[in-house]
Amino acid sequence: MHFSRVLYLFIFTYLATAKQPSAPSAVAGPLRELPWGQLNFLHTTDTHGWHGGHLQEPQYSADWGDYISFASHLRKRADDEGSDLLLIDTGDRVEGNGLYDASDPKGNYTADIFTQQDLDVITVGNHELYKNTTSAREYADIVPAYKNSYIASNLNITSKHGDSVPFGPRYRKFTTKNQGIRVLAMGFIYNFRGNANNTQIQKVQDTVKEPWFQDAVRSKDVDLFLITGHVALRNTSEAEFDKIYDAIRRDNWDTPIAFFGGHTHIRDFKRFGRGTEKKAYGIESGRYLESYGFMSISGLSTKSNGLSTSVATPKFERLYIDNNLYSLHRHSGTNSSTFDTELGRNTSASIAAARKSLDLDKAFGCAPRDYWLYRTPYPSKDSILSLLDEHIIPDTFTDANSSDNPAIVLANSGAVRFDVFKGPFTTDTTYIVCPFTSTFRMIRNVPLDAASQVMKKLNSGPPVFLSEQEGEGAAEAMYRNWLGMRPPAPVREGVLFQVPPGDRLQGLDARIGEQRPLISDHDKPEITPGYTTTDDFGSDGDDTVHEPIPLYNPPNIVGAEIGFSSGDNEGKLPKTVDLVFNEYIQGFTLAVLRQLGVSYGPENTRQALNGMTMTDVISGWVSKNWECEENE
Ligand SMILES: *[C@@H]1O[C@H](CO)[C@@H](O)[C@H](O)[C@H]1NC(C)=O
Ligand SMILES: *[C@@H]1O[C@H](CO)[C@@H](O)[C@H](O)[C@H]1NC(C)=O
Ligand SMILES: *[C@@H]1O[C@H](CO)[C@@H](O)[C@H](O)[C@H]1NC(C)=O
Ligand SMILES: *[C@@H]1O[C@H](CO)[C@@H](O)[C@H](O)[C@H]1NC(C)=O
Ligand SMILES: *[C@@H]1O[C@H](CO)[C@@H](O)[C@H](O)[C@H]1NC(C)=O
Ligand SMILES: *[C@@H]1O[C@H](CO)[C@@H](O)[C@H](O)[C@H]1NC(C)=O
Ligand SMILES: *[C@@H]1O[C@H](CO)[C@@H](O)[C@H](O)[C@H]1NC(C)=O
Ligand SMILES: *[C@@H]1O[C@H](CO)[C@@H](O)[C@H](O)[C@H]1NC(C)=O
Repeated sequence: MHFSRVLYLFIFTYLATAKQPSAPSAVAGPLRELPWGQLNFLHTTDTHGWHGGHLQEPQYSADWGDYISFASHLRKRADDEGSDLLLIDTGDRVEGNGLYDASDPKGNYTADIFTQQDLDVITVGNHELYKNTTSAREYADIVPAYKNSYIASNLNITSKHGDSVPFGPRYRKFTTKNQGIRVLAMGFIYNFRGNANNTQIQKVQDTVKEPWFQDAVRSKDVDLFLITGHVALRNTSEAEFDKIYDAIRRDNWDTPIAFFGGHTHIRDFKRFGRGTEKKAYGIESGRYLESYGFMSISGLSTKSNGLSTSVATPKFERLYIDNNLYSLHRHSGTNSSTFDTELGRNTSASIAAARKSLDLDKAFGCAPRDYWLYRTPYPSKDSILSLLDEHIIPDTFTDANSSDNPAIVLANSGAVRFDVFKGPFTTDTTYIVCPFTSTFRMIRNVPLDAASQVMKKLNSGPPVFLSEQEGEGAAEAMYRNWLGMRPPAPVREGVLFQVPPGDRLQGLDARIGEQRPLISDHDKPEITPGYTTTDDFGSDGDDTVHEPIPLYNPPNIVGAEIGFSSGDNEGKLPKTVDLVFNEYIQGFTLAVLRQLGVSYGPENTRQALNGMTMTDVISGWVSKNWECEENE
């Protein structure tokens, strides 16, 4: 294929057929070419039920059926060219989108939909393990669908007979179809501790000491170690993948290693090891079916030439693919009439049918404009957290009048998962924005001195504070994990993952020059906002050239004061208030109150707001406050 490195096309709205009926069409933009090689990988992770794609964001609007068609074209390319393609998913397929969460039982539709895709390696994520019912269904439905490809190097489940048994095989050894590359694959879950008690996780540092692991890494007949897992590539306190890297290299100094990770919802590519190491790299491929991670390796030894090339240095490349039909057609050399496969089309139809029977498009109201979680500073008029603590919480708690006392209401910002877009706020949106079932608790008559300091305390140095709470129970573990899912701290002040604008634009202008025959002076390709990733290979990893989106870290806790200046309290501050909080943060709130010199236990808390959840609060407020225009 002789694509130029970046393709430019005229601006047009891209028409295509598969994706969900109500999904918007992708917008064409400049695209980087797929760096196809000897061994190629497609990687998904942290899809969290978004298998229907993003119905309000054109850039991510293709669905799981389209991914099935896409993979089928790339498999054919591999067969035609004599190269290989492997597909990997590294967990957190559940929780976070109506397609999974709205059914009873949860996931009743997604299990069938997801398993239509053939995968070579699949692992578990922490979200499959929080509830014993989720892991039991995973073990009953998903594990058998993938048999030997569902790898569980450090996970057991309690069997019907009460004994602890491996969730899947510890590793998988196979030879690729066309090149004869001998692969040894493992699949890990990070050192997670918030799982229900029907599963058992072995710490990675203990797994690498197991005889099976030691034997595996000493195997002589391996051309590539494929280390997959629901594990962040970097900036984890446990550095699980680095521990595995070290354990492999202790006995095996030069077999190439490819890591496929997840959990932190970012696009990332990392070189492992120190010094002259050039044979160990890893990729992380985003979240919510926004991205497909593509990695290729060329120059690997194979079954037939094992000895002759094992000293060569293989070439690793990567590309993060935006999940829209424009990208998927270009990368597979197809168009709207040749793209769909029968299975892909059927799967898209199953998704549409599931969405319909779950009534996911039912609107509670219509958002007058976009509200962002990370894209605007907090507080600001476009911040969903400002909407929450300036309008939704005050309105709801004032209306509810759950007590005659003034109140301070606190909520963890992690309870809000995603942006709200202008337009219909549907059943689906409620699960997307807030998939939690956590209710509100309150303590009555807390001295104002103490209550008014809780938020500030919880917002100052929370990672340290939170780690002191380890072992306090599943709710805290869960909360820490939601925090863990946030992007890491800003690289530059106020801006995450941003390519220096000068660098990127220079490159772009030069290429526009080369492409002049295609584009008139007025027809610059449309550059839309989106991912502009910088990783260990530089800043050319995103398939689509985007405007950078500035991202801001919100505070951990937001809050509102209710009824401070009404009735008797006019003009003076109350002595005591009701302290209301999201039940996720009860442990932290009680701990902070103790530090502030007032002691309460769980027995001093009571239910607030008649057991309404944050999801109920938000959807209730939307129904009352956001009307839909006729034409919406
Ligand atoms: C689960 O989905 C199937 C269709 O895939 C449907 O027949 C069944 O009624 C659903 N079960 C429940 C409990 O919703
Ligand atoms: C999950 O845990 C609950 C409470 O301990 C128990 O009653 C139930 O049987 C468990 N279910 C499964 C599938 O393990
Ligand atoms: C996992 O299962 C194996 C086989 O039954 C057992 O030997 C091992 O102790 C279990 N591991 C854990 C952490 O329970
Ligand atoms: C899990 O915890 C529940 C109580 O929450 C207990 O009834 C059950 O026996 C425990 N199961 C196992 C396998 O330890
Ligand atoms: C994350 O890890 C990298 C090394 O892989 C380090 O350079 C960077 O400073 C870390 N970032 C943070 C925010 O800790
Ligand atoms: C798609 O490609 C095929 C084969 O290359 C061609 O025959 C067809 O006209 C194209 N369709 C569209 C809609 O461009
Ligand atoms: C697609 O669905 C049709 C109609 O239900 C069915 O006849 C066909 O076998 C399906 N094809 C595949 C590949 O699943
Ligand atoms: C709120 O509730 C208190 C008693 O719980 C009652 O005295 C007061 O009138 C109520 N206020 C409103 C506005 O309903």
